Amino acid sequence: SAAGDNTKKDHPLWSSRMAFILAASGSAVGLGNIWKFPYITGENGGGAFVLVYLLCIALIGIPIMIAEVMIGRRGGSSPINSMRQLAQRDGLSKRWIWIGGMGMLASFLILSFYSVIGGWALSYVGNSAGGLFVGSDTETIGAMFGNLLADPYTLLLWHSVFMVLVIMIVARGLSSGMEKAINILMPVLFALLLVMVGYAMSTDNFADGFKFLFQPDFSKLTTEGVLTALGHAFFTLSLGMGVMMAYGSYLPKNVSIVKTAVTVSVVDTVVALLAGLAIFPLVFANGLEAGAGPGLIFQTLPLAFGQMSGGVLFGTLFFILLVVAAVTSAISLLEPVVEWFEEQKGISRLTGTLIAGFCVWGLGILTVLSLNLWSDVHPLSMFERFAGKTFFDLFDYFTANLIMPLGGLLISLFVGWFMSKQAGENELSIGNKLAYKAFMFVLRFITPAAVMVVFIYNLA
Ligand code: PHE
Ligand code: NA
Repeated sequence: SAAGDNTKKDHPLWSSRMAFILAASGSAVGLGNIWKFPYITGENGGGAFVLVYLLCIALIGIPIMIAEVMIGRRGGSSPINSMRQLAQRDGLSKRWIWIGGMGMLASFLILSFYSVIGGWALSYVGNSAGGLFVGSDTETIGAMFGNLLADPYTLLLWHSVFMVLVIMIVARGLSSGMEKAINILMPVLFALLLVMVGYAMSTDNFADGFKFLFQPDFSKLTTEGVLTALGHAFFTLSLGMGVMMAYGSYLPKNVSIVKTAVTVSVVDTVVALLAGLAIFPLVFANGLEAGAGPGLIFQTLPLAFGQMSGGVLFGTLFFILLVVAAVTSAISLLEPVVEWFEEQKGISRLTGTLIAGFCVWGLGILTVLSLNLWSDVHPLSMFERFAGKTFFDLFDYFTANLIMPLGGLLISLFVGWFMSKQAGENELSIGNKLAYKAFMFVLRFITPAAVMVVFIYNLA
């Protein structure tokens, strides 16, 4: 059902390492990079937040990605069953399969709002192609976005279209055609981001945007901001919930997990930073608010597309590619659940996809309503921490700031302390003993300590 082995059969020219990198980057690169990273960076004051985020990627994200892929390759099946097999083989508690269970819950919650945001991008494809950005100003673009959020039916329509796309692809099974598409479209997305950065450079405020991103001002960093940065490192790399485990189960034995994980993480980080470099100069050039929230890219980029030459074409292409990037991530959220349905219940792929897809779609309605009719519904406001949070806010918070770091913590404890050491050494085949020891040290102490300290600080 997944990426690696199909490609091996149908495309003998591709190395299997490349196939995995494409599938994993397809999962990693998405709305997290282009929609979420810029707006949470804006909300959390810029440079210092970005620095913490980068540290989290390097010290926590990459080691956990290595650990996850390693579990997947050794277990060779869906996350829950991989965990089951590994625990059995090394004589450990069956409870470890809860990592897989938690991951599936997180997949459902994330996909339900991810699809609504994917719907925003879909509707902006039409807006751009219809020339609606041309000659616009901050006010008209702001109104365009405001009107979209205020209209539950339009949001529901695009959310439905997005889910149907995802369901259609997952129901057919991930094919090599999918990978071919990622292989072509990722570089195009990359090139378009470079065009946008180029445009940002032509404004008078490029230096302001650059400084905002890369000049740390620690007085702006809060403990909540540190948790957000940590959570986003997990979200953006698709970690802590078994997605990389599922993809790792298709990775051939002779491929270096370390090199591959580092490549995927670097690609993901570069895309996020490019998005930031494209957006913040526009924010300052147009006198917008960096902390404007989830609408940030939808309120800035259209201004640029409306002004630059070829803007209709570039804008339409950009939002199409944003949809594609979102779809390839969404697939990786639905796929493990469907795989589990197939393994566990003997349900056919089509039925499994339809059931899971329908549940996610229904759950997405809560996010749609959070943006308008229910924007004042704050289900957990009895807890101070969750005061003022809508369903959408809560889904986002619980997954990125809670379930994913917790999953990551358990994964690093599992590999660092419980899984057979010999197996770890074989899987990683890091020739250098010292490098292996250093990696294990990070997994045993650094990663768990960092996640726990951030958790404890935030609870206190
Ligand atoms: N990493 C994806 C993004 O940045 C989102 C995602 C999270 C995908 C978790 C799969 C699992 O857009
Ligand atoms: Na990402």
